[in-house]
Amino acid sequence: MTHSRILLIIGGGIAAYKSLELIRDLARRGVACRCVVTAGGREFVTPLSVAALSGDKVYTELFDLTDETEMGHIELSRSADLIVVCPATADLMARAAAGLAGDLASTALLATDKPVLMVPAMNVRMWRHPATQRNLATLRGDGVRVLDPDTGAMACGEFGPGRLPELTRIADEIEAMLAHSEGAGPRGVPEAMAGRHVLITAGPTREPLDPVRFLSNHSSGRQGYALAAALADAGARVTLVSGPVSQTVPAGVDLVPVETARDMLAACEAALPADVFISVAAVADWRPSQPAPRKLKLKGGQAAATPTLDLSENPDILATLAGLRAHRPDLVIGFAAETHNVEALAIEKRQRKKCDWMVANDVSGDVMGGQDNQVSLITDAGVETWSRMSKTDVAARLAGRIADHFTRGRSGNLAAE
Ligand code: CTP
Repeated sequence: MTHSRILLIIGGGIAAYKSLELIRDLARRGVACRCVVTAGGREFVTPLSVAALSGDKVYTELFDLTDETEMGHIELSRSADLIVVCPATADLMARAAAGLAGDLASTALLATDKPVLMVPAMNVRMWRHPATQRNLATLRGDGVRVLDPDTGAMACGEFGPGRLPELTRIADEIEAMLAHSEGAGPRGVPEAMAGRHVLITAGPTREPLDPVRFLSNHSSGRQGYALAAALADAGARVTLVSGPVSQTVPAGVDLVPVETARDMLAACEAALPADVFISVAAVADWRPSQPAPRKLKLKGGQAAATPTLDLSENPDILATLAGLRAHRPDLVIGFAAETHNVEALAIEKRQRKKCDWMVANDVSGDVMGGQDNQVSLITDAGVETWSRMSKTDVAARLAGRIADHFTRGRSGNLAAE
């Protein structure tokens, strides 16, 4: 990647000093930074050091006659390929979520027509505060990409999420977003899925019994995350609705974290329209009908009465999206997890759930939670049995088939029959 330019907004937080290293790292990758330093940011880094590292003028004021004659603030926000806010403070996020334009940074964010990446870093309590989480949801809903902060010891002595992510992760993300906006894949390959929106579910769901206990399963999310990465590499805009897992979110993928099956369905419906829906999640079929509002207790060391589980059926997310009249994704793909009679049951499941393709998944061995997968792809053209391979290879091969479907118009689509 060469000759890309980002507008880097440096907010006021202790992590601001790391933005200096980020500028150097990006320069090594061929990405130039034009910088805005907020009033808070100037308490932590000086415009002089930012200018020295970026080799460019540094902008600080909204109403500055010299700046306006050289480059108006609207032009400033549009002259870059991408706007990056790093560190994004709680205050900057709040102002951007509210659409305020009281200073140069917030005005640039409001006036831009370019993609925006925010990299939050703040005290753990500020991060967890409902107001910040509300603003985060608003920003993501507005199409802003927000990186989740790292968890660890903080400069203020507390521990938790709020640390600035590793600089390599930020720089990788910036490169991926720049590559996407330039119409080439992260590795510069032509993008078969450019302009397509792919919605993927992954991981397990958690169905609460009480505030501390839940029903769930062993799904690691590995297959769904690998697919998200492969399709983002192919140029698709990818929304990944995921239950709780410990996978790294692939660069360029929009993560929507959820817990229950019902949350997962709502998040999927909110993410539509999509060209492709891939249902990889191991959705819990049932949920406790009445989760206890308080922790269920053993009384005096003995259970008052052993609780019995009263379960209700969860919505079927795959069948719901496959059955939509309006906004049914063009290609709907399910994963059928079976321990025996794999292909026969998957063929039946494909018909029942009205999905176009079904990936039959043999989970009798160490597949669930493991590195490898053994799948067959079922389309209206028949059954293809793939040899055992890594989940990353399954993802790459399936992504290739999906791209073929769009570029060559290859069918296999029940809805089209
Ligand atoms: N699925 C879903 N919502 C559910 C259950 C399953 O979206 N409530 C999706 C899964 O993501 C997968 C497909 O349906 O793509 C098949 O899931 P699987 O667990 O194999 O099938 P079930 O419908 O749960 O049927 P069974 O448990 O009887 O095998």
